Amino acid sequence: MYYYLDNLSKIWHRGGELQSVDYRIPEEIVEEVRLRSDIVDTISEYVRLQRKGKNYLGLCPFHSEKTPSFTVTPDKQIFYCFGCHTGGNVFSFLMKKENWNFVETVEHLAQKHGIVLPEKELSPREKEQQTRRRRWEEIHDWATGYFHEVLLHKPEGEPGRLYFKQRGIDEETIKQFRLGYAPERWDGLIEALSARGVNPQELAQAGLALERDHSEGKSRGFYDRFRKRVIFAILDSRQKTIGFGGRVLDNSTPKYLNSPETAFFNKGHHLYGMHRAHQGIREHGFALLAEGYMDVIALQKAGFKNAVASLGTALTREQAKLIHRYTGRVVIVYDSDQAGTQATLRAGELLRDMGFRVDILSLSGAKDPDEYLKTFGVEEFNKALAQAEPYIQFKYQIHVKTKPTLSAPEKAELVRELASDIIKVQSPVEREGYERFLSLELGLTLDRVQAEIAGFDRKPSKRASEEELFPNKQDISVKKRDNINRCANPTQTGASVPDGVIRAEQVLLRLLLEQLIPVSEFKEQFEEGFWKVAYHQQIFDYIEKARCIGKGAMPSMESDALQSKVAQLMLEDMELSNPERLFHDCIKQIRSINEEETVEELQARMVELEKSGDLTGALALLKEIGERLRSGEK
Ligand code: UTP
Ligand code: MN
Repeated sequence: MYYYLDNLSKIWHRGGELQSVDYRIPEEIVEEVRLRSDIVDTISEYVRLQRKGKNYLGLCPFHSEKTPSFTVTPDKQIFYCFGCHTGGNVFSFLMKKENWNFVETVEHLAQKHGIVLPEKELSPREKEQQTRRRRWEEIHDWATGYFHEVLLHKPEGEPGRLYFKQRGIDEETIKQFRLGYAPERWDGLIEALSARGVNPQELAQAGLALERDHSEGKSRGFYDRFRKRVIFAILDSRQKTIGFGGRVLDNSTPKYLNSPETAFFNKGHHLYGMHRAHQGIREHGFALLAEGYMDVIALQKAGFKNAVASLGTALTREQAKLIHRYTGRVVIVYDSDQAGTQATLRAGELLRDMGFRVDILSLSGAKDPDEYLKTFGVEEFNKALAQAEPYIQFKYQIHVKTKPTLSAPEKAELVRELASDIIKVQSPVEREGYERFLSLELGLTLDRVQAEIAGFDRKPSKRASEEELFPNKQDISVKKRDNINRCANPTQTGASVPDGVIRAEQVLLRLLLEQLIPVSEFKEQFEEGFWKVAYHQQIFDYIEKARCIGKGAMPSMESDALQSKVAQLMLEDMELSNPERLFHDCIKQIRSINEEETVEELQARMVELEKSGDLTGALALLKEIGERLRSGEK
């Protein structure tokens, strides 16, 4: 932190050092890629950034924190975290975040911005892998085109056209989702792609054809995996097809056939609809998570451009991470059957544990969002959406649904069951909301409900002084909490310090943090109890500690909250061009405000003494006040 600007300008241009010896991208191309890749745009895909003056602030993606200490400075095209001291430019960010090497990172950004890189030398293994992937992608792209073309224009696509028409899907939607149809024959795709030079073995490797079982004396050969099915191409956010789902046209089974898992396709790593939804999720501020292909299509068509589906499998962490790139809020709208409810509980828990805000939209009168929209329309869906329940309340409803009347022990059991979720809630206000909800629902006093839940919660409740000092702070461990209280002299809480002093202290700290004023010079003017804001004292202690350890070393900060305060301090717009003068002005200002305070306090005490009849005491105070005021005038 000390060396904030120093260090970062070094990291900034270090591209060359990070390149591997095997393959070097020319410096000027690296520079071009860097200039074209805006750091705020790039990082925004991973971190929700909030503008703060000329800079941005967010939750650090490299360590876990509840209050933001991660900063991005577009002017300098750098990022820095005051919590874990990770910093760098757009390249180092992606290298760390995606675990790519330098070359991979530059390649990714170059491709994104249409910059052509010179061909590189690959190891034979890498070469083979790259060739296979490119071929795989090419084949998938052609296959998507084939199914799509059959559906739109070919006579054998008629059943598919009829099917989608019946389900209310128009041509525009078919195009937007690149929907398709696999005709009723054994070699539709095989034949179409052989015209492009793809042989059946290759198609089989890509998972799109199967080899005939010739043990029964049949002739050797291959046949299409997808036949007589409408085809849903699964596209990733680069708009490339990575797999297919094929649905039967009737009620036969299996209802859906999906691409097999391969080195290049892992169903649990993707969400259907993401190729269109990432924009919509940003706009809506939340993701609408459904189960099926048809749900996503129906929802997006109805204007919910933020809809994605977990493809019928249990939601995975990888899928949740995909959503997390764009939002921290999910509304789950799974099927209304028993399986859907169970899946909702599991997905809800996973998302909550990962820090998402999770609400559940339970639809009644329809089996899934697609059917609901058809039956009741968009307006009703919107009404239902406005009624979406927080995960914990949904869980409660599920528990009581089967048992409308509960005995006393059953009530206790239910409260304890939900307690494990409630104690995870960080916000005290939100938590009390659930406690009140339970007390109303179960006809118990709030006290009793809270007592039952508190029995579960081993963490001691937060103390007032901490709340005052860190209004945004939500979770600190017991140890850290004790530290803060030790530092926070109760007469020096942030709340009672005049604004002028707070501001002057902030400027002083900033001067120290940026090393515009040496700590030694500050200490000449410094007396015990100088800092009136308790966390300013802590930040100063930290600066001192960093100074003792020596240049370059960065001790870790005691708490998240402190890191966040430092980050905010560094982001404040301050005019620091004349540090020496600023320094003396601040110290003078703090002293004079403190004097005023003392005189006011003395006056108040004097009035008290007068009232109580202690005139001697009052007179003594009056004398003291006179002296103070005179010395202040000098
Ligand atoms: P659903 O059975 O709810 O299908 O399965 P759906 O998407 O609502 O389709 P319609 O509206 O009945 O036509 C939800 C999701 O589970 C996966 C699919 O991704 C499907 O969209 N699934 C389902 C399979 O992968 N295989 C199956 O056999 C069934
Ligand atoms: Mn469904």
